[in-house]
Amino acid sequence: MGNVILIHGGVGSKGRVKENLDCILGKCKSDNPLESVVKSVVLLEDDPRFNAGTGSVIRIDGSIEMDAAVAIPGDFGAVINIKEVRNPVLVARDVMEKTPHIAIAGEGAVKFARRMGFENYNPETERTRENFIKMKEALLNAEEGDDRYAIMRKLIKEGIVEEPHDTVGAVARINGKFAAAVSTGGASPMMSGRVGDVPLIGAGIYCGEKGAVVATGIGEEIAKRLLCYRIYSRIGETKLSKILEEEIAYFNGKTAGAIAVSADEVASTSNGVMPTDQLEF
Ligand code: GLY
Repeated sequence: MGNVILIHGGVGSKGRVKENLDCILGKCKSDNPLESVVKSVVLLEDDPRFNAGTGSVIRIDGSIEMDAAVAIPGDFGAVINIKEVRNPVLVARDVMEKTPHIAIAGEGAVKFARRMGFENYNPETERTRENFIKMKEALLNAEEGDDRYAIMRKLIKEGIVEEPHDTVGAVARINGKFAAAVSTGGASPMMSGRVGDVPLIGAGIYCGEKGAVVATGIGEEIAKRLLCYRIYSRIGETKLSKILEEEIAYFNGKTAGAIAVSADEVASTSNGVMPTDQLEF
């Protein structure tokens, strides 16, 4: 099988962004898989309709804290709860390539980004501000005993908040080599400081000699399951699409999805609408 890049715009994103994905992929062809996935995620972060970079959701305290990660076989880099940068995925790549660490969080991540030349940037948009105000009002009025999922479902059903459209991601196999990249504003509603699956190796992202996998959905559930490593470790056991279907079925209604590439297959599955697109070359 030849070269392939596969991207997604987050489970819950609906088909409304499909045309954007087509246009993004056209710009991401490269003979370097890491270059391709990072470029894909940068373009997704720059599109305000996705919950990553510009357009990231606002947390309960009014802050925007973003997570991003990149992975290639044997290496990994992530930023956790980074603020005020335009492209968290680029900072994650610098963590992997320019530091001895695998992840840098919070203030340290912001300081590192500034030293690497990333300028101060406010990722808030009018839409995310409006959604924040609605979410906060609805949360304060939620009935006692409602759990996070029940509250979210109620808010979405009543049209008070938008259906969550979370993490964006990309995986690639180019010249037989793999890479993966992910970025998110998180899964609303959430506290300041909360960390999801994206910057946790094996949870929201994994890449090795057999393939690359990224996930989307409720980060806590994905991390508890170590979803991406679980999928990766099963590569070769049966068809890749069957592995993804079986693994996503486990979530039983709790929002989750994944995309993956192996040496000879490409697959994507989710339990909600998830725009995806792929480029073969
Ligand atoms: N999947 C993104 C998050 O839960 O933060």
